[in-house]
Amino acid sequence: MTRNPFTGAEAVAVGVEVDHVFKEFDGGQDVLRNVSLRVEPGEIFVIMGPSGSGKSVLLRQIAGLDTPTSGRVLVDGLDPALEETRAKVRLALVFQAGALFNSLSVYDNLALYPREHRLGNEAAIRAKVTHALKILSVEDAAEKFPSELSGGMKKRVAIARALVMEPQLLLYDEPTSELDPVMSATITEIIATLKNEYSVTSVVVTHDRELALTIGNRIAILMDGEILLIATPDELRASKDPRITDFLNPVIDIQHPRFKKLETQATT
Ligand SMILES: Nc1ncnc2c1ncn2[C@@H]1O[C@H](COP(=O)(O)OP(=O)(O)OP(=O)(O)O)[C@@H](O)[C@H]1O
Ligand SMILES: [Mg+2]
Repeated sequence: MTRNPFTGAEAVAVGVEVDHVFKEFDGGQDVLRNVSLRVEPGEIFVIMGPSGSGKSVLLRQIAGLDTPTSGRVLVDGLDPALEETRAKVRLALVFQAGALFNSLSVYDNLALYPREHRLGNEAAIRAKVTHALKILSVEDAAEKFPSELSGGMKKRVAIARALVMEPQLLLYDEPTSELDPVMSATITEIIATLKNEYSVTSVVVTHDRELALTIGNRIAILMDGEILLIATPDELRASKDPRITDFLNPVIDIQHPRFKKLETQATT
């Protein structure tokens, strides 16, 4: 049996099911096209894909912040968009841009959820918040406001805020972008530790190959709103599909840069 890092309560991992999901915004094209996947309880499931391929949109469906046009998403067998699911399953999303409350100090940003959900008295909350800030090496920022933080600090505070929510399911949107290599490695280790020691199920949207291939149990490649492949890191490394190899190992060719090709196309 594993225990929650903060409360010591028994941690129960939850799974995710995405079943034939389509998402279309206001009569436009489908941003997600027939996406199906299962995230096993306690797994680190990585979603990679080019910019604009629909990764953040998919993560928002799993978080229940938005609903599919058709198809369904289940978290622990329940619809994540329903209030009653939120009461039963502790789910936290680390947004791509942090999404901190600008009018609150870092400390109050972190304390907000535990206060609202009465996860202990003020002293217990202080201990949790301080612990989370320390893990992410931002304890000196406790009294600062989000506008006073660098991009990387905001990112770490956003992850610390997710940790104090004592999540069973943690959804990360680009957790290591804007971070230096050492801090990226720390975040990668934190995600792996939460899985190994505390049974937290993680869905990680990332462009960070190192993170994906070192700690991902399985990796889905999303292109143009469709799942191209779901594979283990070894299977992904061995893939001969040119769409995968070009995406994972783009060749930088300064003799024939891509934009020159575009210029030629534009003038013909
Ligand atoms: N609320 C919305 N209304 C209309 N279109 C949207 C909305 N949200 C996202 N889109 C569109 O959906 C597509 C996918 O966006 P998404 O944010 O999921 O990309 P992404 O894969 O996360 O890209 P990146 O790696 O750059 O973060 C884009 O074309 C985007 O313009
Ligand atoms: Mg995104």
